[in-house]
Amino acid sequence: MANKETVLVSGGAGYIGTHTAVALVEAGYDVVIIDNFSNSEPSAVEGVEKILGRKVAFEKVDTCDKDALRKVFEKYPFNTVIHFAAYKAVGESMAEPLKYYQNNLVSFMNIVEMMKEFNRPNILFSSSATVYGDAEKLPVTETTPRQPATSPYGNTKQIAEDILRDCCRAYEGLYGIALRYFNPIGAHPSALIGELPRGVPNNLIPFVTQTAAGIRPMLSVFGSDYNTPDGTCLRDYIDVVDLAKAHVAAVNRMTGHKMEQKYEIFNVGTGTPLSVLELITRFETANDLKLPYKIVDRRPGDVPAVWADTALANEVLGWKAERDIDDTLRASWAWEKHVRGIK
Ligand code: WQD
Repeated sequence: MANKETVLVSGGAGYIGTHTAVALVEAGYDVVIIDNFSNSEPSAVEGVEKILGRKVAFEKVDTCDKDALRKVFEKYPFNTVIHFAAYKAVGESMAEPLKYYQNNLVSFMNIVEMMKEFNRPNILFSSSATVYGDAEKLPVTETTPRQPATSPYGNTKQIAEDILRDCCRAYEGLYGIALRYFNPIGAHPSALIGELPRGVPNNLIPFVTQTAAGIRPMLSVFGSDYNTPDGTCLRDYIDVVDLAKAHVAAVNRMTGHKMEQKYEIFNVGTGTPLSVLELITRFETANDLKLPYKIVDRRPGDVPAVWADTALANEVLGWKAERDIDDTLRASWAWEKHVRGIK
């Protein structure tokens, strides 16, 4: 790339942000990572730099702080922003809705406001398959109607999508893409970056790897009486390295001025559903270990099944999930062992 484009990565010290920062630099972009470390660690940025073999620009910034954000826009010449910074624990959002609406929406609106103020054209938003809720027809496409959100977390994703849609329509120079992630799992093959949940993990794979590491005595499988082949929920588990590459494909589309609408949405998944029990079995086989688990009651808010129709991202972004699920599950375990100092 002759004159390198720079991309601002908000929440770039997080799980998906770090993997995306690596993929962007490897694709020839420069990155500026901003993060307030509210749900991540400085070691994550060090991991990105170790993988890349060079420093990356970093600013400790809370995207809810408009003045601090303005200083970043004044300092760096990026045309594209990827906005990851948000709280993302479904259960916590039920107990703390105001914390989620304030943080996730104020931070996003600040980003859009700064883009308008500084005439920066491209914003890529980290959305989620949770916007589909309990869809009637599967797999879901980008035109599958969104169901009313079942959590404040999910609602912040829906509201932010609508804010982005309306701002792209209203403001001439603004272009937006929302990527609806399914279930991100895995870790970079180097085992230098990965998911670092604080406290008791909400999501399945971190709980699985912490159980395998002996940190959790037992995995609880939330329900086996769903109307699915083995009674446990079906999800579309997407490798985080594949997910990061989908962001590069979307940034390429924006910086290459290839967008056909001012606001576009893409599902980012594998298109292949897996059940909780299938995932447990594959994790055990891929890593040659036994995982202690028990079946317990359903978790309120869980949908029985959701997985992606990925045709649009495949055709329009030229992106497709490539990593093998067993390699992904081996990378998850390698990362957990790295974090815990397990040989
Ligand atoms: C997956 C399956 C659980 C934990 C949410 C958000 C989504 C995304 C990922 C945030 C379900 C089962 C889980 C456990 C279990 N964003 N499970 N025991 O709920 O599909 O999606 O997280 O990170 O936007 O909606 O992901 O990993 O929590 O659950 O049986 O200890 O695993 O019931 O069927 P989910 P999950």
